[in-house]
Amino acid sequence: MDNHKKLIIGLFGFGVVGEGLYKVLQQTPSLNAEIKKVCIKNSGKKRNAPDALFTADKEELLNDDEINVIVEVIDDANAAYEIATRALKSGKAVVSASKKMIAENLPSLLELQLETGGSFLYEAAACASIPVIRNLEEYYDNDLLHSIKAIVNGSTNFILTRMFEDKLDFQQALTLAQQLGFAESNPKLDIEGFDAVNKWAFLLTHAYGIVEHPENNLFNGIQNIKATDAKVASEKHLHIKLTAQAQKLKNGGVAAFVLPQFVTEDDHLSFVKNEYNGVVIESGFADKQFFYGKGAGSFPTASAVLSDISALRYQYKYEYKKLYHHIPNELNEDYFLRAYVSFDDWKFIPRDKCEWIEEWHANEDRKYLVGVISFRELKTSQWWKENNTSLILTANPVIDDLDIRKLKKKSLELAGIAL
Ligand SMILES: NC(=O)c1ccc[n+]([C@@H]2O[C@H](COP(=O)([O-])OP(=O)(O)OC[C@H]3O[C@@H](n4cnc5c(N)ncnc54)[C@H](OP(=O)(O)O)[C@@H]3O)[C@@H](O)[C@H]2O)c1
Repeated sequence: MDNHKKLIIGLFGFGVVGEGLYKVLQQTPSLNAEIKKVCIKNSGKKRNAPDALFTADKEELLNDDEINVIVEVIDDANAAYEIATRALKSGKAVVSASKKMIAENLPSLLELQLETGGSFLYEAAACASIPVIRNLEEYYDNDLLHSIKAIVNGSTNFILTRMFEDKLDFQQALTLAQQLGFAESNPKLDIEGFDAVNKWAFLLTHAYGIVEHPENNLFNGIQNIKATDAKVASEKHLHIKLTAQAQKLKNGGVAAFVLPQFVTEDDHLSFVKNEYNGVVIESGFADKQFFYGKGAGSFPTASAVLSDISALRYQYKYEYKKLYHHIPNELNEDYFLRAYVSFDDWKFIPRDKCEWIEEWHANEDRKYLVGVISFRELKTSQWWKENNTSLILTANPVIDDLDIRKLKKKSLELAGIAL
């Protein structure tokens, strides 16, 4: 696409993001981009734009040769995949915000980009207004990226913040989030971690060249977190965040997971409250960098879509440098995680599955331990999610020094306190 060519957009979806984009584009005439047609699902709905702009027939957009950019912001992952792939195959650039569609179809979308040479951009799909994908793609060399730790889901962060600050229990905080529009009426995708792990799947590709289906990642949400967990955290001057984390291990592999985690008061992520998102990147020479911003909402998300549209002016496309131009990293499972586990009854906790236990407490109604568990145990079992059990990683949870682990276990055995 040459720099002076007008961008003629076919927009799919006119909901929170689509309408936001329509308004934002009206305020940025210098971009030289115009929405020619908008495809929606229900033609009967009243819209805040001229009727002539709308159609319910996708062919009108996909078969229009004048349209050179398809922006897809619909809430149906299967339909979004069909739209994106057909548009790429017919030589149109595609901008998308559908994290589920991208995460679940990444291998074939990567192949299609290689095949067609077309641009497929999706900055809005992870952390909305925070330009995390382009930064990972352009800035951090593979060897220098030690770790990335992020809050990528605003709904769960809002709920956890209200549990902490207003001392609400989980259900009360969820109801408040729904009343204020920060959680869906069916909140399962957000609170059980599916949305976060979807985003994490393709962020791992841009960070480390890892291509893995979201379901193959270790993840959980915040559905089991209790007010008593928040109380324990407060007493220890900690916060609880649903944290997506990836870090290089000593053996060269990458540890990655999305789990609730305690963060210390001086951790940048503890400043990320309510519906906001945050990303901390630790790299070789720059040390820590912190990105903070709105991870959802009409204009914040539309701003990321706009930035992708604008990048199409200079034919920008992701090069997937870590995947194609470096030796891609691999996920590694040979490490251990230090975790706090709270539960109603010891009978639900297979204590022999802990490498060792460092702390345990028992109150009348709730008990907890802090122990070290192998990543593989968590990956292959469910006990830590069931029977009202809540697992929260400690701050700095990854243990990959296996010699220390053996020594520690031995010394606890000798002291008669290992299990
Ligand atoms: N909302 C956010 O803050 C946010 C942030 C980041 C990413 N995203 C992602 O952006 C996408 C859109 O989210 P949203 O919140 O804007 O959704 P939304 O408010 O529910 O709007 C969805 C739109 O998609 C249209 N639609 C659904 N199926 C369609 C189909 N097969 N063909 C054409 N149009 C179709 C709907 O048409 P009708 O109007 O006729 O029903 C509606 O206009 C989703 O993938 C979401 O995950 C959203």
